[in-house]
Amino acid sequence: MANLRSRVLTRLGRGYLTRLQKKPLDLSTLSFFPHSALMPLRRDGVDPVPELGVRRRREPVSKLKLPFGINVWLVTGYEESKEVLGKVEEFSNDFANLVGTSGGLSADSNPGGLGMADPPVHTRLRRLLTPEFTMRRLSRLAPRIDTIVNDRLDAMAAADGPVDLVEAFALPIPSLAICELLGVPYEDREDFQRLSMTRFDLFAGANPSLGAMSESLAYFMDVVKKQRENPGDGLLGMIIKDHGDEVGDRELAGLADGVLTGGFETTASMLALGALVLLEDREAFEKLRDDDSAVNPFVEELLRHLTVVQVAFPRFARTDLVVGGKHIAKGDVVVCSLSGANRDESMGGDMESFDPTRKSPSHLAFGYGIHRCIGAELARMELRAAYPALVRRFPSMRLHGTQADLAFRKTSVVYGVEALPVVLGG
Ligand code: HEM
Repeated sequence: MANLRSRVLTRLGRGYLTRLQKKPLDLSTLSFFPHSALMPLRRDGVDPVPELGVRRRREPVSKLKLPFGINVWLVTGYEESKEVLGKVEEFSNDFANLVGTSGGLSADSNPGGLGMADPPVHTRLRRLLTPEFTMRRLSRLAPRIDTIVNDRLDAMAAADGPVDLVEAFALPIPSLAICELLGVPYEDREDFQRLSMTRFDLFAGANPSLGAMSESLAYFMDVVKKQRENPGDGLLGMIIKDHGDEVGDRELAGLADGVLTGGFETTASMLALGALVLLEDREAFEKLRDDDSAVNPFVEELLRHLTVVQVAFPRFARTDLVVGGKHIAKGDVVVCSLSGANRDESMGGDMESFDPTRKSPSHLAFGYGIHRCIGAELARMELRAAYPALVRRFPSMRLHGTQADLAFRKTSVVYGVEALPVVLGG
């Protein structure tokens, strides 16, 4: 009887996941997890809930209790997470492994692009994007990012009364930076901003709606069509000029959508939560305001401490193997808790606290291995430009209300705060 029940549950689970696969997938896929398994996504303010650290100390690779007979492992240790993320042969990112369909997701059925693709598809797609993310190509964006940041600060200064830093600062900066990166024409920027917002229903804790996703793809299809006729010098135009005949329109629109998915919500969350950390830590605020050399270590420590992408994409074991002393079977799902790994005490002293004087903290905030964030340097550029400019322009800025009044996202893969009202001061 128990066996039959488990077989029925497994079938139900796989049916559900097959339906889920038909939707465009992104990091929020993990929301199919039942309530009890969502502990790695829960926080107290900016900190992961203490249970995460307790579990890491006891069992850095442990089993999550899930229905449907699917074995899911939670990896909370730093070295163990690195091991899983680094084992490309042993783990797949392709959901087809879970739902038992044959073949990987094609780039057409997987508009998220890189994140859920395995080599060789992943290698081919990533190779198209990589040249656009080199420091040399990105450095041309640096003056544009400074302008974007300063324009936002001017707009904030002109506002009356308290300002919501999420809406006025954290959301527009990455959205406009991605416009620059992709080469979205100026006349389309308002459409793009609106699209970015609806695409994510940001900070509402909801998954992006299918309507918004298909609108996003339709929008990018249109941009790609225009760029085919007249390629600009942004990412899309450059790919069209250099590899136009190797890549289809739908695939290119999917890559652009993947860049938006990867780069918008993540950076916006970092900007808002980082500003909150600054508002709560006067010493760090003043150091950042007065000392240029404080910026890079501050940003690196903030990336580690906040780890806004709380878990990596699920990995599917292609073979039986042992990680952290645990026997993982072929077909098992492995979820790396990046926020757990980044506070692993084996990496240094008092990893739970925020210490911007920490020397080059190692962290997995951008992941590790072949899927490591392609936009890491762009994100750093944005953060390194935005925080110092904010504290220098508004040196007396303070929270309007207290941290207890703030609403944080509850169980989303990308952690964030819904609004951050501040008084700018004289
Ligand atoms: C602070 C901001 C950011 C954080 C914390 C972040 C974090 C991450 C993480 C953890 C992964 C790996 C997920 C995994 O292995 O399962 C990833 C992948 C990715 N990120 Fe980011 N990201 C950020 C900004 C950006 C930006 C600015 C872009 C592009 C404009 C971007 C584009 C991507 C893409 C396309 C991938 C998939 C890479 C692949 O699978 O090969 N991200 N990001």
